[in-house]
Amino acid sequence: MMNDLVVCTRDGEIGIITIYNPPVYALSPGVPEGIAASIGEFNADPAIQAIVLIGGGRTFIAGADIKEFGKITSGKKVAAIGLAEVCLIIEDSAKPVIMAIHGTALGGGLETAMAGHYRVAVASAQVGQPEVKLGIIPGAAGTQRLPKLAGLPIALDMCVYGAPISATAALDCGILDDVIMGDLLTGAVAFARDQAGLPFFKTRDRQEKLEDDGALAAARAKLAKRGRALLAETRAIDAIEAATQLDFTPGCAKEAEYFQECLFSDQSKGMIHSFFGERAVAKIPDLAKETPVLPVKSVAVVGAGTMGAGIAMVYANAGIPVLLKETTAEALERGLATIRKNYASTVQKGRLTEAEMEQRLGRITGTLTYDGFGDVDLITEAVFENMALKRQVFAEIDAVARPGCILATNTSTLDVDAIASATARPEWVIGTHFFSPANVMRLLEIVRGAQTLPTVQATAMALAKQLKKTGVMVGNCFGFVGNRMFGPYRREAELLVQEGATPQQVDGALYNFGMAMGPLATGDLAGLDVGWRVRQENPKQFEGVRQPVIEDRLVAAGRYGQKTGLGWYRYDAARRPEPDAFVTELIAEVRIENDISPRGISAEEIVQRTIYALINEGARILEEGFALRSVDIDMIWVMGYGFPAWRGGPMFYADTVGLTKVVERMQRFGWTPAPLLAELSASGGRFTDWSR
Ligand code: 3HC
Ligand code: NAI
Repeated sequence: MMNDLVVCTRDGEIGIITIYNPPVYALSPGVPEGIAASIGEFNADPAIQAIVLIGGGRTFIAGADIKEFGKITSGKKVAAIGLAEVCLIIEDSAKPVIMAIHGTALGGGLETAMAGHYRVAVASAQVGQPEVKLGIIPGAAGTQRLPKLAGLPIALDMCVYGAPISATAALDCGILDDVIMGDLLTGAVAFARDQAGLPFFKTRDRQEKLEDDGALAAARAKLAKRGRALLAETRAIDAIEAATQLDFTPGCAKEAEYFQECLFSDQSKGMIHSFFGERAVAKIPDLAKETPVLPVKSVAVVGAGTMGAGIAMVYANAGIPVLLKETTAEALERGLATIRKNYASTVQKGRLTEAEMEQRLGRITGTLTYDGFGDVDLITEAVFENMALKRQVFAEIDAVARPGCILATNTSTLDVDAIASATARPEWVIGTHFFSPANVMRLLEIVRGAQTLPTVQATAMALAKQLKKTGVMVGNCFGFVGNRMFGPYRREAELLVQEGATPQQVDGALYNFGMAMGPLATGDLAGLDVGWRVRQENPKQFEGVRQPVIEDRLVAAGRYGQKTGLGWYRYDAARRPEPDAFVTELIAEVRIENDISPRGISAEEIVQRTIYALINEGARILEEGFALRSVDIDMIWVMGYGFPAWRGGPMFYADTVGLTKVVERMQRFGWTPAPLLAELSASGGRFTDWSR
């Protein structure tokens, strides 16, 4: 045994190195050292003729230990033994090394595998270089060895976009040498026996696939066409280019230089925060691990509008049969037609087969009554955003649902406790706030009420996973976390227009900041009437806050956004936004009516006022306890509102800027920083480290 993580055994003349480092068999400290020592041991043993390296549990190596990166960038640690050197030790082995892959060989895992002389895998295995999703590039010669095995176009695709490929695809392009049917270790040992005593090659010496016939230029053009390339995406191409121009050792030096540049960048820190954040939100500190999770095998949805129809699809996609209720046959048919249209378009794009579509459609049963509601495990309400109506619907479903059925509301702003109090079982009521389009957006905001049972909370979190969503638990305040922050963010965007910016300048500045879409265009997408209705229904929430007026005037003119083809912009048939003279004139009118002399506003001011408004509201939410941790706020914004993952989310971004600077700026705008923000700024703290 080399250490607990890497174990050497023998099968006759074949040496077997087995890695044990659950859960993902990462290259944590001790693993690379163990591999190097094992290669040394087998090379020193004259009885051994070939070596097999395999993962001892659910997978081959899924990459470097990402937790180590933060220690390195914060100066707490210097990498003990470089993986790149271990790969050279493997490749320089005098006896052939056969890598036996199952599960996922990702990042440093694939790099380790490529240093072997042969690679075999089971058919279900996947291989990839996903480093770019962490804002870095492969750092153990992945950009140098992969093109030699797979050729430039595939290596570029894998390193620039980070998606893994299947074992079959890896066999076709030369990354794998064989796909093993049956037991992997048995197959790999047999493969090793066949190779024993035969000549073999080092991957680093192979040159035949390195010819560039335009692949590098094509990769650069593709990135440029998409726009807003990340540092790691660009550097992945540069590093692969180095493989075509330099010998292996200087090529690796170039890769190392780019790797360091990426690792120490704010982009990488933001993306690593997002990687762990996505997993951290699944842990609810006050919910015991053993809290029972109830099975959700059948559901009903009330309301087949924009959200109800989408939510029904989400359930059907996860294999759960759905009853979908409407008030009229026309509304029901409209909802079902939307569902059919959406599935048909996915089939047309080749992302779903006709048979799968029929299967999913077959799981959705339209209805105009509550018949069958007494049998389901969970009911999701998605009727209009109106308290009286929601209370009426909850009283009705309370009367028909069986005991132990969970009653969930999709409300985007309303008080979940007030809705729950319309039932005789408020402890079985919870908010499950899907985002539009429900079948696409990954976020599920889960709103627990004052009385929601732990088991109902745990079931909602588990359901999110079952639906392939990321559930984030939040408290019950107006707008919950996401929409409560969205309010001040959009209000600031509108005020900037009132003061002198054009809608295009505001949206452009935030798009350049990295948002998926500018705030005004987002309003057009969601429907300007939605926000207007929220303001009408909840006047108290907006008392004492300076309110912009342009959007109310747009709504009064029947401009609801994309759904009417007109909003802040004019939309063509392909839904492309164009500036519209009506809006320009309206803005000018509003400025005159309100005695505003327009001034030039910089992109910097646009970003700071909108994003700092977001941060300030986030700080209040955190302090008031409606979000569990700042990372929950970050993930809500990254997964539900198109905040750039490479900035880590609004609260992490604030930490990156420095809270003192954020506060100084706010004071210059004449704002009062939220108490928590002021306190952390004064004490040199960070949102990321704060806990109550
Ligand atoms: N390092 C450290 N921890 C990791 C990790 C890694 N590479 N990959 C996953 N984990 C942790 C997760 O944080 C999670 O921890 P938790 O239980 O405390 O929340 C646990 O392992 C299980 O992870 P998942 O919940 O993601 O498990 P899944 O089974 O859903 O997915 C996976 C498995 C596909 C391997 C997925 O975890 C994954 O994609 N991991 C990242 C792979 C990756 O990016 N590898 C490249 C790393 S960078 C690198 O190798 C640089 C090199 O070039 C030098
Ligand atoms: P919508 O107006 O598109 O659909 C509402 C549907 O409910 C209509 O089809 C209506 O006929 C139906 N309905 C009304 N009363 C009913 C009843 N008693 N029984 C059965 N059906 C009934 O509204 P949308 O946009 O789908 O919103 C639904 C809910 O989802 C609201 O609470 C909204 O705040 C929330 N939401 C909306 C989002 C969006 O982007 N549209 C995003 C997230 C949440």
